[in-house]
Amino acid sequence: MNKTFYITTPIYYVNDIPHIGHAYTTIACDVMSRYMRMRGFDTHFLTGTDEHGQKIQAAAEAKGMTPQELVDKIHVNFKELWKVLNISNDDFIRTTEPRHVRVVQAMFKKLMDQGDIYKGSYEGWYCVPCETYVSESGMGENRTCPDCGRALTMMREESYFFRASKYVPQLIEHYEKNLQGVMPRIRYNEIMSFLRGEVRDQSVSRTTLKWGIPIPGDEKHVVYVWFDALINYATAVGYLDDPETFRKYWPVVRHMVGKDIIRFHCIIWPLMLLALGINVPVSVVAHGWWTVDGEKMSKSKGNVVDPFKMAELYGADAFRYFLLREVPFGSDGDFSEAALVGRINSDLANDLGNLLNRTLQMIVSYAGGAVPQGGENDPLDAKVRALGEATLGLVDKAMETFSYDEALKHIWAFIGRGNKYIDETLPWKLHKEGQKEGQEERLDAVLHTLYEVLRLSALLVAPYIPESAEKLWKQLGLPGSPLTERLDGFRWGGGAGTKVAKAEVLFPRIDLEQWKKERKKERDARTGKLEHGTEPEHEPQIGIEGFRSVEMRVAQILKAEEIPKSKKLYKLEVDLGYEKRTICAGIKPFFKPEELTGKRVVVVANLKPAKLAGVESNGMVLAASMKDAAGTAESLALIAPASDVPLGSRVS
Ligand code: ME8
Ligand code: MG
Repeated sequence: MNKTFYITTPIYYVNDIPHIGHAYTTIACDVMSRYMRMRGFDTHFLTGTDEHGQKIQAAAEAKGMTPQELVDKIHVNFKELWKVLNISNDDFIRTTEPRHVRVVQAMFKKLMDQGDIYKGSYEGWYCVPCETYVSESGMGENRTCPDCGRALTMMREESYFFRASKYVPQLIEHYEKNLQGVMPRIRYNEIMSFLRGEVRDQSVSRTTLKWGIPIPGDEKHVVYVWFDALINYATAVGYLDDPETFRKYWPVVRHMVGKDIIRFHCIIWPLMLLALGINVPVSVVAHGWWTVDGEKMSKSKGNVVDPFKMAELYGADAFRYFLLREVPFGSDGDFSEAALVGRINSDLANDLGNLLNRTLQMIVSYAGGAVPQGGENDPLDAKVRALGEATLGLVDKAMETFSYDEALKHIWAFIGRGNKYIDETLPWKLHKEGQKEGQEERLDAVLHTLYEVLRLSALLVAPYIPESAEKLWKQLGLPGSPLTERLDGFRWGGGAGTKVAKAEVLFPRIDLEQWKKERKKERDARTGKLEHGTEPEHEPQIGIEGFRSVEMRVAQILKAEEIPKSKKLYKLEVDLGYEKRTICAGIKPFFKPEELTGKRVVVVANLKPAKLAGVESNGMVLAASMKDAAGTAESLALIAPASDVPLGSRVS
């Protein structure tokens, strides 16, 4: 029987542009897949995009596109990034594909037929004018809306529920016997304590939303996006269409996720699987969270790390190496470009690059470019060889627990041993003495050992830095690619007789002074110029009458309040001097309410009233903003008069 292995990334929401977090999970899965292939496993590696739901519908509306147009356009960003980062996924699934829609509907129906999905109702206190549910803790006195002060009504909405509670004891029992079911241990404990608390039946349909998979036989409902999304892992290996593939890969599935979504993956999904009579994943592996220069990443701060840019500046391999080496897998990490540059110079250019260059040059100068045979059992050579062979085992053990940083530490300890070996054996001295004292054989043995250190290193680093490993392999004069070699097939001494190729620099050292200057230049350009360097979209020209018809006036914000239903909007009370009014503004991601009170702004005063998230808005607050590729604003500034003028002054 073939050994099999199946690994998945989360499927990413397409309302966002790919950032370092997405890159991290996907790179970690890629390294694991490549490693398992090199261990002889028949490996399947899946990634994809999550394309239904409220977020996507809202993002499409904001762009004036249909949701389908939006997802067709934006999912490509992910595919392109995976190409740039050398991701070797076997499949890319999109939840809007027919193959997936069919499986979701079939699973939904099966659960409904067996009584594990039932129709119920969602109940709560509702503010009809604001069209929003208000929680017990959030309501005003005498059951009033905290926003508009009007009386709340008890509302019921039809919803389908998944009988999650029924399978909880079975899942607890499973995890008690399978400690690797959730990794690392800290997440396992978190999940167990949550499972031992109250797990409620889950609402799995929506009637308030159109962009989703219709429920068979009751099409005013669509499937809740998480119920839809989780199923992708089963769709992709043929749950419905290809039972043979499903039998092959499903029993060995591992899900890798960020710690933000473990409840869905370690509780809801396994409960769904138990209800469906399918076995639960072997492991859900949760990694930590990246911050940037010590801060949370956010669009408004403008500190979102763009993986395309990192790959372009430093190379995909250096970026891959850094992410997995820098923090213990499972822990949170902090990204800084300075730390990345540090690792490139020390680990990649210095440790690995130098060992390669020195060794190849010596083989050319002292042995005519062909790897000599190994010598008699010299104790030092035996020690180096033993470390190499032990490293294979140590790396294997580390990879079993997804401890990438540990594996890399072992590999680099071995590379470091190679450099130390040069200092211990002083091959140039042996070469000089060779003529008079007959040290040629010892020199041959030393060159042989060094070559084997590099040959094994090329294999060990291949899953992490595939492109560089292939270059390294070529320089060593070896045919094919290290990526298609077997790690467990490595035999020390197998390199003897190989003709090496020309030594080239694998990782150029980065000059720190130069680097700092360039970064500064770039920052300056960024604050002054269009972020994406592209020509903006222009409107047709207008005459002065067209402009005059827009009545713009100076106003002052008196109060900013959240609108519970809306992630983007604030309800603003503004003073125009001659009157006060309510205006809704989509600026919530950029300001705290208290930052807005007292601010002078420019508003369009003659805009027709419009209802936004249940609130009537009478005008518009002017702001300048720059949008990212997904059409979401990533920077925004309010427009204000540069000096004092009375409120209500006309802007022209
Ligand atoms: O949650 N640090 O998609 P998503 C590390 N569609 N990893 C990060 C990160 C950060 N700062 N930010 C994001 C969804 N990630 C759902 C998943 S699966 C059936 C559905 C990574 O686009 C991490 O892997 O919000 C996290 O779990 C994932 O991106 C969330 O991606
Ligand atoms: Mg998210």
